[in-house]
Amino acid sequence: MRKFLIDTDTASDDAVAMCMAFRHPDVEVVACTVVAGNVPLPQAVQNALYTVELCGVDVPVYVGADRPMLRDLITAQEVHGEDGMGDIGLPLSGRTASDGWAPQVIIDTIRSNPGEITLVAIGPLTNVAIALLMAPDIAGLVERVVIMGGTGEHGPGNISPTAEFNFWVDPEAVRVILRSGMPLEFVGWDISIASAVVTTARQDQLRALGELGNFAIDIQATLQSYAWEETRLEGPDFPDPIAMAHAINPSPATVEHLGVDIAVGPDPMRGTLIVDHYGFSQLPKNVHVVTHYPEDAFFTMLYELLG
Ligand code: RIB
Ligand code: CA
Repeated sequence: MRKFLIDTDTASDDAVAMCMAFRHPDVEVVACTVVAGNVPLPQAVQNALYTVELCGVDVPVYVGADRPMLRDLITAQEVHGEDGMGDIGLPLSGRTASDGWAPQVIIDTIRSNPGEITLVAIGPLTNVAIALLMAPDIAGLVERVVIMGGTGEHGPGNISPTAEFNFWVDPEAVRVILRSGMPLEFVGWDISIASAVVTTARQDQLRALGELGNFAIDIQATLQSYAWEETRLEGPDFPDPIAMAHAINPSPATVEHLGVDIAVGPDPMRGTLIVDHYGFSQLPKNVHVVTHYPEDAFFTMLYELLG
């Protein structure tokens, strides 16, 4: 069994990624830690607890940072819905998280499972950065760190012309991670729009799977209209699920080992990934950036796990 620790700002695509991990026979999700991002923290915690209950797994959920380290929180409820889960009336309240604070849980989990934890971060990186500042030693103890974030080498942004939301929300947290020495693998929004757009045909295939397939589509109600009106995609895209697919099976991916930094100033450069191909910045090659993940490999895994 591989041990996954999922850090999430649970909204409509995070929930699908969590279902994938919960249902994979070779993956043990040891904990979910929650961070503010798509929605305010309390709502993200409820969404995570609901998803755990829906999948019938015994996975503890822990509360984390309710805002970025140095900035005000800006959420994405126009993208995922006020409740983050498509505003379709799901009972997303009244559940109780486990005792413990997410950054400390990240530290304790990695230290007590040296070389065995795959950390899958699918929201802003505030919890992970705080954990690293509290305990830099965890960088050398974690097995893999798979992050949904950035826009690869040349991808467009989804919150500004050049920045992806998770990295834009807390760019200072990204800089802490980039300088930490953690074994980083980035799956950017460029990969999502290239290989994880849920077209109408794909939606029909998911609905045919039954309860979880219908859940996966139903909660994208807001994202669906956002896609048609704003990003002009053929349907909602699944950035967190394809990042989770890479965490579960990295073999189909094309990856480049690159020196990467992040812009931490104000807009318009805020949160923009700076990929240094020719070493101008003397940055070490600190990130394995996924530059391609085959669409068929992703959807085949998604159907298998939600079926
Ligand atoms: O930019 C996409 C990312 O922002 C995904 O993690 C999505 O859930 C949102 O948090
Ligand atoms: Ca997310």
